[in-house]
Amino acid sequence: MVKIIPTVEKMQEHAESLRGDGWRIACVPTMGFLHDGHLSLMRIAKRRADVLVVSVFVNPAQFGPEEDFETYPRNLERDLELCAKEDVDIVFTPKTGALYSDDYQSYVKLEHLPHHLCGLSRPVFFTGVATVVCKLFNIVRPHIAVFGEKDYQQLLVIRRMVQDLNFNTEIIGAPIVREKDGLAMSSRNAYLTPDQRPAALTLYRSLVQARKRVETGERDAARILKEVRDLITAQPETDIDYLSICDPETLIDVERIDRPALMALAVKVGKTRLIDNTILPVSSPGSRSV
Ligand code: PAF
Repeated sequence: MVKIIPTVEKMQEHAESLRGDGWRIACVPTMGFLHDGHLSLMRIAKRRADVLVVSVFVNPAQFGPEEDFETYPRNLERDLELCAKEDVDIVFTPKTGALYSDDYQSYVKLEHLPHHLCGLSRPVFFTGVATVVCKLFNIVRPHIAVFGEKDYQQLLVIRRMVQDLNFNTEIIGAPIVREKDGLAMSSRNAYLTPDQRPAALTLYRSLVQARKRVETGERDAARILKEVRDLITAQPETDIDYLSICDPETLIDVERIDRPALMALAVKVGKTRLIDNTILPVSSPGSRSV
């Protein structure tokens, strides 16, 4: 049966005792409103540890003042049912005030990675993510933690934080899970109206097109980005935040695609901001497909 732990003290106490007994702890941090993407992270985590802790916490520190913290979709009852079905051992559900007191002061800020892609239009996002993940790791004390590759930049930021701050936690990236039509799963997909779905799908179609162009020999990043921009802007209600072909480690834009590059994009469809990415492989068999 899934155990719900709502307080920091109880979670810390329990984690210490699990570690003391020699159990291997996995953590899947989430903001709830779980979908199949989250469930795939849980299955990966479950295979690699003895005890799986899923945290459900909508983290105010990663939302800007104009963003959707208040309206972010929440359904704890359904999340708990899904966790029970996935055989999750513990769901950690701290209250906002338990993680951020009124006079809270300490943040984890990375120097370079946040100054690209999503970090440009969401200036507080990665500091908020790194801070809350750091806090969750100190509370749950996981041996491993699993994050989705859909938030590719987030995964890089967390890997970097773990390396720089000497956390003894292995970070595992999990492949993007897509709806049947190709749309990458996201809790924010719940905001989309049926009319907006074709526009939302252009993110996936753009990645497929870019991969095809690279497979057939195109190496000029600007040319591919222009084609993708045309494809997206032809759809109603789309507003491109960024389109980028960049180095998969540094996230610095590349002009020529001479080795595998990351193609990443963020597009608003109506009021819903969607992100997606893929690696553009350059004749390297076994690279990940979209
Ligand atoms: O990816 C998410 O859902 C969040 O950014 C995370 C990692 C749970 C931190 O709040």
